[in-house]
Amino acid sequence: MRRPEASSPGHDNGEASVFSTIKELRHIDGWLTERELKLLLSYSSKVKKGKVILEIGSWKGRSTLCLLEGAKKNHAKVVAVDTFKGSAEHGDVDTYDEFIANINRHADYGNLEVIRDASENAAQKWNGEISLLFIDGSHKYEDVEKDFNSWEGKVEKGGYILFHDSFPQGWLDVQLFIIRRLFGNDDYNFIKAVDTISVFRKEPRRHRNELRFKFDSPLHEFLHNGIGLSGKEVRRKGRYPDEIFSPRNGWNWALAEYGNFRFPFISYRSRYIKFYIGWLPKGNFGFKSSLNLKGGY
Ligand SMILES: C[S@@+](CC[C@H](N)C(=O)[O-])C[C@H]1O[C@@H](n2cnc3c(N)ncnc32)[C@H](O)[C@@H]1O
Repeated sequence: MRRPEASSPGHDNGEASVFSTIKELRHIDGWLTERELKLLLSYSSKVKKGKVILEIGSWKGRSTLCLLEGAKKNHAKVVAVDTFKGSAEHGDVDTYDEFIANINRHADYGNLEVIRDASENAAQKWNGEISLLFIDGSHKYEDVEKDFNSWEGKVEKGGYILFHDSFPQGWLDVQLFIIRRLFGNDDYNFIKAVDTISVFRKEPRRHRNELRFKFDSPLHEFLHNGIGLSGKEVRRKGRYPDEIFSPRNGWNWALAEYGNFRFPFISYRSRYIKFYIGWLPKGNFGFKSSLNLKGGY
């Protein structure tokens, strides 16, 4: 366990401002997209003073630096856990020196703890409470499971768990794990997904047994902002054209007519299930599906 050494040669502590824009992080080898970095920045900057952001899988420091940048806002702490030996797909590597060099080159952060160990071992020795857990280690099913099982008990109530390479685009093993363990789990609420990061909050489900899924994907935003009909002169035809669900349950449908274009909407509601997809009465595109095993829709 060690912290990165003090500044490397040529480093100027004033360079902390180099991260005034997260575009700079693209120069560090890694996989996180700009939208994912923004998401990490946003969640890490909400973590309160002295509280902990823990990352499993740091590689060469791209995500770690982003978390550190967010943590600066409220003086939160960052713990980076990695063997620095890469995952199966990386081959025979050792990224530790490069990680340390990148941290030193770009930051003068005193709030970083680096644990150079397998996540499972590290969890046995590390005692504390985590406000934000970022899981980006090995993406094999059994490893994701180990990471989750080893650390999730340390995540505080109301804390967040973010999985990289999960939804909407991601690794099948990570997705399968999340589907099996997180969806339908009363202790976790799905919050959002951006590119390949999905965000869960540890808290009792707002609506027990309800399965919610909203993709915050580029496609969603394109449909929302680009082809959304909100505020336009639209004629709606259909069964109950201005309602999302049929007041009598069962099917509802509508067609929004805008110029020569036709935009469909369809919904269904029964005692146990409800869903809709298409252009909503207010004009924007929407998709939602909910399952209530106790009945009562
Ligand atoms: C996809 S990379 C992480 C990328 C990093 N988050 C970034 O944004 O650049 C996965 C990392 O997980 C680490 N890793 C794999 N298995 C691990 C384990 N069991 N415990 C700790 N780290 C592990 C690898 O060494 C590798 O650096």
